[in-house]
Amino acid sequence: MGSITFNHVFKRYKGESRPAVNDFHLSIEEGEFLVLVGPSGCGKSTTLRMLAGLEEISSGELYLDGRFINYVSPKDRDIAMVFQNYALYPNLSVYENIALGLKLRKTAKHEIDVRVKRVASILEIAHLLDRKPSQLSGGQKQRVALGRAIAREPQVFLMDEPLSNLDAKLRAQTRAELIKLQSDLKRTTVYVTHDQVEAMTMGTRIVVMKDGVIQQVAAPRALYDEPANVFVAGFIGSPQMNFLNGTIEKNDGDYYFSNKRMRLLLPEATGRNFERAPKTVRNVILGVRPEHVILKRGITEEAGFITGLVQMTEATGADSYVYVQIGSYPLIARTDPEQTYAAGDVVSVGLQMHKIHFFDESTEELVGRGEV
Ligand SMILES: Nc1ncnc2c1ncn2[C@@H]1O[C@H](COP(=O)(O)OP(=O)(O)OP(=O)(O)O)[C@@H](O)[C@H]1O
Ligand SMILES: [Mg+2]
Repeated sequence: MGSITFNHVFKRYKGESRPAVNDFHLSIEEGEFLVLVGPSGCGKSTTLRMLAGLEEISSGELYLDGRFINYVSPKDRDIAMVFQNYALYPNLSVYENIALGLKLRKTAKHEIDVRVKRVASILEIAHLLDRKPSQLSGGQKQRVALGRAIAREPQVFLMDEPLSNLDAKLRAQTRAELIKLQSDLKRTTVYVTHDQVEAMTMGTRIVVMKDGVIQQVAAPRALYDEPANVFVAGFIGSPQMNFLNGTIEKNDGDYYFSNKRMRLLLPEATGRNFERAPKTVRNVILGVRPEHVILKRGITEEAGFITGLVQMTEATGADSYVYVQIGSYPLIARTDPEQTYAAGDVVSVGLQMHKIHFFDESTEELVGRGEV
């Protein structure tokens, strides 16, 4: 129970020229934890609201467990939604807030009591049941909002940035609780966030959206290792992937990536990506993550290293990030925090060639990778 199918779903708001959701086409499996992620305005909430029945669908079809639900009212969808702003009733106690949805569905009083208490114990808010929302902290309010959704025992949970009002520590803690809760309850969950860390840690699959269009759907690791285009590559990962413009050239059977400041021999397998390239010279964007950039002090004659100048360093505790400038090309390298670099230091920069990505410069689509 709880499988969802979006069949070429569009949403056009009145008076808007561009659809807010553009051909959303996806099947979500029973019990899946699917995360929708993307920048502000990319259509995440609109997608969720269509699924909840709070927003009309302009075209396409929506199915829940194989049942066509485009015109089914929200209360008949067996879906519970948790919003960013909790939406608790201030005059009702925590108990009554959690019980409300069940009451409206005419659940027996005894059954309501059993469910409210069970949910309160799972969420560790049993001691707060008599309080009013105004007497709760942000994290506690959020748990009550979750409790209200869980108590209904719906087939599907929809969550729209439910943690964004919490401070960093509470957010991390509640995130862990939600992951556990979802794996215990095994209910299909569609979770919206614009926080890529949240997306990567929570989702069994992630949908990356931009301008209403799905960019890629993949498991977290696959998204990180095989981003489909420059947008996804730059959106997932922090600090973001480094991008260097240049060309791929073939010389004596070997392939090189080159630009004004560098000429890098590509591993044979990577070069083969370009064997069927229509042109002999191809404009590309090389993508490499900070953890795949190698730094050495001073100038080295070693092949594959380019001289650069340290601009600044950023220590996060576990890692240090070194900002290097190679001519006009900026690059961030993750380094061991024991290794300290200072602005003005001359360094040699190498790339882990089997970890690089190539994107076509004009389409920005992935056209080659180090590992194939
Ligand atoms: N009721 C509305 N009428 C007209 N346009 C709307 C309406 N609601 C949203 N939009 C537009 O649709 C697009 C998608 O909005 P949506 O709220 O789905 O984005 P989002 O991804 O949830 O963004 P955020 O991360 O800021 O919450 C935006 O361009 C937004 O301005
Ligand atoms: Mg939103």
